[in-house]
Amino acid sequence: MTISTTFTRLLGITHPVVLAPMGGVAGGKLASAVSEAGGLGIIGGGYGNPKLGYGGPEFMDREFRAAGNSRIGVGYITWSLAKFPELFDQALARKPAAFFLSFGDESQFAPRIKAAGIPLICQIHDVEGARRAADAGADILVPQGTEAGGHGKQRRATFTLVPAVVDVAGSIPVLAAGGVSDGRGLAAALMLGASGVLIGTRFWATPEALGSEAAKSSLVRAKGDDTIRTRVFDAVRDIDWEQAYSGRAIVNDFTRQWHGREEDLLRAPADVSARWWEAQRAQDMSQAVVFAGEGLDLVTSIMPAGDIVRGIVREAERLITQPEHFSTTADGF
Ligand SMILES: Cc1cc2nc3c(=O)[nH]c(=O)nc-3n(C[C@H](O)[C@H](O)[C@H](O)COP(=O)(O)O)c2cc1C
Repeated sequence: MTISTTFTRLLGITHPVVLAPMGGVAGGKLASAVSEAGGLGIIGGGYGNPKLGYGGPEFMDREFRAAGNSRIGVGYITWSLAKFPELFDQALARKPAAFFLSFGDESQFAPRIKAAGIPLICQIHDVEGARRAADAGADILVPQGTEAGGHGKQRRATFTLVPAVVDVAGSIPVLAAGGVSDGRGLAAALMLGASGVLIGTRFWATPEALGSEAAKSSLVRAKGDDTIRTRVFDAVRDIDWEQAYSGRAIVNDFTRQWHGREEDLLRAPADVSARWWEAQRAQDMSQAVVFAGEGLDLVTSIMPAGDIVRGIVREAERLITQPEHFSTTADGF
């Protein structure tokens, strides 16, 4: 059995599993591994701002080369992409398998994406956002619950947001995002009416992901309880997110020192930020940011991305076709 949905049929892929466009983490190698296993890999361009160490035109050239001939998509943070129009042109010229936009008004980019015949995937955080993205022409909607790793809103949880968005989406396929790390999550998402899942945190803990071994080890050590939605890493990096957004990351000494004191951090002497950047470059886990979601409880090893795709789908298929396996615990693939 394969799980065929409106989403897999629209994209012409085998499995309803999509790699989240994690900035600085989802590079060409990881995107390719997910696509080659039958899902859809998406390279994360993040802010598009090379000052953050990834995301500029050279990064994208390199990562698309690393993906080889695999069919992959590209994703950007919408409000930031608006500052780098050349990156938008570059991405369109590559004719990606999908264009993924999150965190902002997609209508400024949608017409050219659609005119190029590229499926537009929009990540949103509430039902109002789903309506807005559908009006802008989204081909796929991704409701993101607050459980998710990385940036998002405090507002809604995956379990309630997904069916609410499905009910307003009409014929537009919906992917559930936030807290899906195994086959139980995929099966549950399908039961809520989704046509697939978008997964970030579980794919971060893979050999193919960009990022340090220290960060990946911390993903395996930490649990969902060890994550927090915070704005401290935006404050120290001087990234101007709208107030409603925060980033879910692993708690460390830096969050313990500054969470709730973001205004003080913004006004702190420049050497506080300089010292943090030094720790970030050195990957000192007591200070550095590791964005990750509540799904960390289910991340117990670093595992090749293809094995994760196959394991998640196998487990979901088993649950759907053999209900006697309901009430299962994680099988760790
Ligand atoms: C390390 C990391 C970086 C992320 N970066 C981005 C990003 O640049 N753009 C984006 O749209 N979403 C980003 N996200 C959020 C994902 O798109 C997605 O919503 C989330 O990973 C889903 O929840 P999960 O982490 O529980 O699987 C990031 C998530 C993580 C964990």
